[in-house]
Amino acid sequence: MPIGPAGGAALRFLATLLNARTVVEIGSGCGVSGIWLLRGMAKDAVLTSVDVDHENQRLAKLAYREAGLGTSRTRMIVGRALEVLPRLTDGAYDLVFCDADKREYPEYLDAALRLLRPGGVMAFDNALWHDRVADPAHRDPETEAIREVNRLVREDERLVPMLLPVGDGLLCAVKRD
Ligand SMILES: C[S@@+](CC[C@H](N)C(=O)[O-])C[C@H]1O[C@@H](n2cnc3c(N)ncnc32)[C@H](O)[C@@H]1O
Repeated sequence: MPIGPAGGAALRFLATLLNARTVVEIGSGCGVSGIWLLRGMAKDAVLTSVDVDHENQRLAKLAYREAGLGTSRTRMIVGRALEVLPRLTDGAYDLVFCDADKREYPEYLDAALRLLRPGGVMAFDNALWHDRVADPAHRDPETEAIREVNRLVREDERLVPMLLPVGDGLLCAVKRD
């Protein structure tokens, strides 16, 4: 499921506000969120997009091309997020967008804290997870992990959090200086 138009517009807004030059996307999918991000990023900026699925990345590249976004604007990395993210440079990114395996969201939070520069922003899609997060009857691993990341972000003194109720919920947080 790609991000919806409201979530996409929020990502474009954040990328523009930050004048983002370096962005990491965890979960390229077929390129929808990448296009929103790239449309907000600086013209010479590069989106680093990670996905475990080779075919999805092929489709994402096609979508970027059809959207008129040149190949120099993207660095596509095929691999499992938790194996790829440790290879990326600490403190070098303006924005980290997380939208891959929901069960790994708490680990993506650790990675985002390491990758972001002070003042950088992280964003997690599906923070409401189809209204399951707010319903204690749901205790499946995805819902529990998203609940956990919402709590961790809210309680972390290094972060300034905001849960945007757009689409399926976009949990955002600024990394303090
Ligand atoms: C919801 S889709 C991403 C949608 C995309 N962000 C968009 O809005 O257009 C999730 C993607 O994460 C990828 N994925 C799932 N588990 C992953 C993992 N452990 N590491 C990297 N990518 C993963 C899937 O292959 C899929 O393409």
